[in-house]
Amino acid sequence: MTRTIYFVGAGATAHRHAEALEHLPRGDRPEIAAADPNGETLESFSDVVPDARLYDSSEAMLEEPVHPDDFVIVCAPPFVHHSETLAALESGRHVLCEKPLAVTQPEAVDMVETAKANDRLLGACTCRHYGTPGTRHVTELIADGAIGDPYHVTWVHRSQRGRPGIEYQPASKWFLDRSKSGGGIVMDWGPYDFAALYDLLSPDVVAVRDAWTAQPETGVDPTDLTFDVETHGGASLVYRTGTDEVNVTYERASGTHGEERWVAEIEGTRGSIRWDWTDVDEAEVTLSSDDDGTVTEESTTVSGTEPFGPHQRPLVFFDRRIRGEDAPILTNEDALFTFSTIQAIYDCAASGEPQEVRPHALE
Ligand SMILES: NC(=O)c1ccc[n+]([C@@H]2O[C@H](COP(=O)([O-])OP(=O)(O)OC[C@H]3O[C@@H](n4cnc5c(N)ncnc54)[C@H](O)[C@@H]3O)[C@@H](O)[C@H]2O)c1
Repeated sequence: MTRTIYFVGAGATAHRHAEALEHLPRGDRPEIAAADPNGETLESFSDVVPDARLYDSSEAMLEEPVHPDDFVIVCAPPFVHHSETLAALESGRHVLCEKPLAVTQPEAVDMVETAKANDRLLGACTCRHYGTPGTRHVTELIADGAIGDPYHVTWVHRSQRGRPGIEYQPASKWFLDRSKSGGGIVMDWGPYDFAALYDLLSPDVVAVRDAWTAQPETGVDPTDLTFDVETHGGASLVYRTGTDEVNVTYERASGTHGEERWVAEIEGTRGSIRWDWTDVDEAEVTLSSDDDGTVTEESTTVSGTEPFGPHQRPLVFFDRRIRGEDAPILTNEDALFTFSTIQAIYDCAASGEPQEVRPHALE
């Protein structure tokens, strides 16, 4: 019996995952099956993977006999991640779930506990920009003492008109409805942001001291459907590791009247580093320090070693983990920790109360 990789949802993201299949080890090509209630979408998926077995529901698909190394990629909108992940785990298969993991904290906890109870792995697609060559180089520089004691991170990424469901992928209106997406741009890009910050700072605890969300208006805001998500959000956080504390100034915008900015910078007592944390091919890392009272800067280009891009990483890396190999992908409790950080930002913004995120203890 050959193992199968199952796709729940055959839309835009499923197509990108499918491009990763050619990067699996030669001689071990899995079979492919896909389920989507939308017939046209299924048809276009079979243009990309012609030999895929197609289903109009995941329920029927998961009745197929199970191979121990099967896994399911849940790449449907967030409001079905919880139910689809549970069904897949309970069918005896590992699950690679799209970001965000779920739309609420209880759902995310339930998913990780179900993975544990079924002795299966739950992987997060946040690895598109996790463990990137740039961030790994920065952690090495910090460990070598290049910036002294780190005390502050600026993590500010602002686009003026890049709102999912409006300017970006306008056909996918679920992005605009909180009950379907879980939230706006913080829920959409936060999974990558907080996975990268987790990689950079290895926290034991994350405190959210203050947070806010906003929805700046434009002349093309939809009025005939639910549009209740933020397009701009921010927070002040503290990452604690042992007795060390690093403050994080966080901001994310897909729609703002302010200027566009893209800054990832960590400051320490003897220097600072700015870097491109998203690129997996070639990332520029700039170390700034002091030379007899004068600021000096040194830039390095760090190259990746994998022959594929960010959208192919989740499938290839999860496949390696299923085989027992090492790969930079967050699974189970680690995936939950980054999701919980995002939830804590929303909770703090809604209540005005500071929040704390600690690792979830599983039974
Ligand atoms: N669009 C992007 O750039 C992008 C990038 C990375 C990750 N993602 C994530 O991927 C997921 C899917 O996003 P997308 O952009 O592919 O959306 P999409 O709207 O292009 O496709 C989603 C598909 O899921 C199908 N679907 C809905 N409910 C289903 C169910 N119960 N079972 C099976 N199929 C179902 C829909 O019919 C649709 O074809 C989201 O979690 C999103 O955050 C999107």
